[in-house]
Amino acid sequence: MKDAALDALQNERFVLGESVFKFEEEFARYCGAKHAVSTNSGTCALQFSLLALGVRPGNHIITTPFSFIATANAALHVGATPVFSDVEMETCNIDPRLVRGEMTGKVQVVIPVHLYGFPADMDPILEASRENGVAVVEDACQAHGAEYFGRKVGGIGDVGCFSFYPSKNMTVCGDGGMVVTNDEDLAKKVAKLRDCGRSSHYEHDVVGFTSRLNTVNAAIGRVQLRRLDAWNRKRREHAELYSRLLSVVDGIVLPRKASSDILPVYHLYVIRTGPRDQLKAWLEANGVQCGVHYPVPIHLQPVYKRMFGYAEGDFPNSEMLSRTVLSLPMFPDLKHEEVGYVCEKISEFYAHEIARA
Ligand SMILES: Cc1ncc(COP(=O)(O)O)c(C=O)c1O
Repeated sequence: MKDAALDALQNERFVLGESVFKFEEEFARYCGAKHAVSTNSGTCALQFSLLALGVRPGNHIITTPFSFIATANAALHVGATPVFSDVEMETCNIDPRLVRGEMTGKVQVVIPVHLYGFPADMDPILEASRENGVAVVEDACQAHGAEYFGRKVGGIGDVGCFSFYPSKNMTVCGDGGMVVTNDEDLAKKVAKLRDCGRSSHYEHDVVGFTSRLNTVNAAIGRVQLRRLDAWNRKRREHAELYSRLLSVVDGIVLPRKASSDILPVYHLYVIRTGPRDQLKAWLEANGVQCGVHYPVPIHLQPVYKRMFGYAEGDFPNSEMLSRTVLSLPMFPDLKHEEVGYVCEKISEFYAHEIARA
C-alpha cells in the first residue's frame, strides 16, 4: 500500500489520476457490474445515486431504521422523505413482505442495507420494486464481496453503493465510496455529480459537488481489493469458530450462518442477548473491546424524532435489536486463541449470570 501510494503521489495527478479509473474498472469487474464511479464517501455514493435516478423533493425512499444513519440521511440530502420499514429479527435486514406494503405512489426508490455484511433478501425486494416501478439502490457499505445466490451484492439492484471508511472490509485508508451499476447513463450522471457537474473542463450543466476519490486513496484501494477475498475468508473462519464455541452457551442468539445461497462477509459478528450492557461491561473489564451497532435506531435519533415525530414503539424489531445487539471483535488478523478467549469469557459471564439468577 505504501509503495502504491508513493508511486501515485510521485507520478499521477492528485485528483482524477490514472489510479482512480483503474480502481473503478477493477471494482466494477469484482462486483460483476459494467460500471463503477468512485466518490469521496459512501454517503455521497448514496446521495448521487438517488440524484442520478431522478429523485426529487417530495419523493419517498423506503429504507431500514436499523442501519448507520447515513443510509436514511441520503434521502434527506436530496430533499426526499425516508419511509422506514422494520427489519426481520433473524437477519437484521429489511423485511421484504413489509417493503411491498410500503410501496405507494410516492415511492421512487427502496434502499435495502446488507447489514453487518449479511445480504438482504434481494429477490422479493426486486420483484415488488419492478411491479411498482421503484428503483433499488443497494447499500452495500458493509458488505464488499458478499454474495446472494451467486451474485455479488451491489451488482444486483439498479445501483450499489459502497464505503471505504477505514473500519470496512476494505478501505482506501481514508474516506471513500463507490457507485456500481450496469446502467451507463446513470454512471455518467454520477461521474458528473461528483466532479462539480462538469460536462467539459470549463462547462457545468448540472449543480454538482466536489466529491471525488483522491488518487492516492484509489491507489491504496486497488491493493486492498486484491486482498479482499482472502480477508473475507478469514472473517468467515472466525465467525464459524465463534458460532461453534458459542453454540453451547445458553442465553445468546447467534448470527445467521452462511449457506449455499448466501455468502456473508461478517463485517461485524453480532450476537444478541438480554443483559447486553452487562455482558459488554464484563468483556471490557476482561480486555475485550466490543461495539454496539446500533444502540439507537435511526427513527429515534434526536434529529429524526424532531423532524418526523417518531416515538418509541414505531419499529419494534429495530428497537429490540438496538437494546440487545453486541458486536464481538472481528477482523481478518484475529487469532483463533483470541476468539477462544472471548468465548471463554462469555461462557464465564453466563455461568455467573445463572449463579446469580
Ligand atoms: C450501512 C452504511 N451505509 C452508509 C455508510 C456511509 O458511508 P461513509 O461513512 O463512507 O459515508 C456506512 C458507513 O459508514 C454504512 O455502514
